[in-house]
Amino acid sequence: MKNMIVIGAQWGDEGKGRITDMLAKTADVVARFSGGNNAGHTVIVGKERFELHLIPSGILYSEKKNLIGNGVVINPIALVSEMEMVENRGVSTDNLFISENAHVIMPYHLLLDQLEEERKGPNKIGTTKKGIGPAYTDKVARRGIRMSDLLDEEILRKKLMLNLDFTNLLITKIYGADPVSVDEIIESYRPYIAKLTKHITNTAIIIDECNKAGKGVFFEGAQGTLLDIDYGTYPYVTSSNPTAGGVCTGSGIGPVKIDEVIGVAKAYITRVGEGPFPTELNNELGSFLREKGHEYGVTTGRPRRCGWFDGPIHRHGIRVNGLTQIALTKLDILSGVDTLKICTAYKYKGEILKDFPMNQNIIGDLEPIYEELPGWKEDISEIRAYADLPENARRYVEFIEELGGVKVSIIGLGPERDQAICR
Ligand code: GDP
Ligand code: IMO
Ligand code: MG
Repeated sequence: MKNMIVIGAQWGDEGKGRITDMLAKTADVVARFSGGNNAGHTVIVGKERFELHLIPSGILYSEKKNLIGNGVVINPIALVSEMEMVENRGVSTDNLFISENAHVIMPYHLLLDQLEEERKGPNKIGTTKKGIGPAYTDKVARRGIRMSDLLDEEILRKKLMLNLDFTNLLITKIYGADPVSVDEIIESYRPYIAKLTKHITNTAIIIDECNKAGKGVFFEGAQGTLLDIDYGTYPYVTSSNPTAGGVCTGSGIGPVKIDEVIGVAKAYITRVGEGPFPTELNNELGSFLREKGHEYGVTTGRPRRCGWFDGPIHRHGIRVNGLTQIALTKLDILSGVDTLKICTAYKYKGEILKDFPMNQNIIGDLEPIYEELPGWKEDISEIRAYADLPENARRYVEFIEELGGVKVSIIGLGPERDQAICR
């Protein structure tokens, strides 16, 4: 059995939860390694629709272990309410394990996320306001609270006091807001800590033991390559490394143990929040894709911006993640569009740029160069063999393969478990 990673190849919401659910049946352990409840992963099984934010999408298979790795930031209230949501629907959480090194999102992180977005005004990032950035800031500044600190209330109190020596200065003196109290935080978190305690452990050991028994781990990415703090559209990114490298540091596995890195790419592109988007469609077609594709955020309900598939972004994702295969989702949504466009390069100041620039100061001025491809009219959502797809749909898929040089091994033709072609 192999260790496999699923990574978002664009700006998130590519269908990672759905692909994880499809592929996880062959793994023994499913692990999240980055992000927090800024993620929203949809899994549809028969008539049941699950929206998961922190719990790995493998939870729907009762025999698998599901891990939340050290690279994740955890809001205990959000996690417990998600656990209760799945439990109320007959899904056990006994096999959920949480890294003792994962950092805790505290109420003041939510407050700071809100205050900082307000302070930035028109220059805001458009965050999910879940406290993600401030929690990772505290982690890197070495004043964060980790899950293991929740296990002893006296230690938690001491660490919170140390943190708040700084954070309350920030809240009151910089933002002019009211300070937060250690006692109130402890009181409000106590019942949630009690529920999580038995799940907190050394999750890297579970991964190692799984591999030693000859079994595979499936790593479920959150966010996407362009939201990566290093390889994304900085500063309009999240505060972690959702790219493949983040798996090793975010879960405690060495790089040579990884066998496959699957990039999930939508057949068009979407983005939530602020920031540049070269192939964005600010027109009727953009609205058509949004409505037909139900492109509204799972976490915040915000409408997703929609645009054409972007080849340089695709190649960038392949390069920085070492993608070995592509899962192309939502091809069904493109049925009925007469002429499809795929961006193959950009024009910038009279020059042709084939690669997605890492100099973010020029992204807003890129002019996409498009290849036009003929569309197809047929509903393709019930097709299960590649050869049965309309010729123009196959041409679209093969054009994307040629652009990136990586095989499209899975094609999503609908949101349900079996609505896909595996090649
Ligand atoms: P994630 O964050 O990457 O897991 O993706 P989201 O769940 O936020 O958004 C993807 C949406 O597309 C969800 O509503 C899925 O149910 C849906 N979806 C996934 N794959 C397909 C597909 O191939 N076709 C269609 N029509 N919907 C899909
Ligand atoms: P999944 O896992 C889409 C975006 C936010 C914002 C930026 C920073 O469902 O693909 P943050 O709250 O992380 O500080 O926000 O990142 N963002 C996502 N967009 N899908 C996600 O997750 C996202 N997680 C964060 O909209 O632009
Ligand atoms: Mg999502």
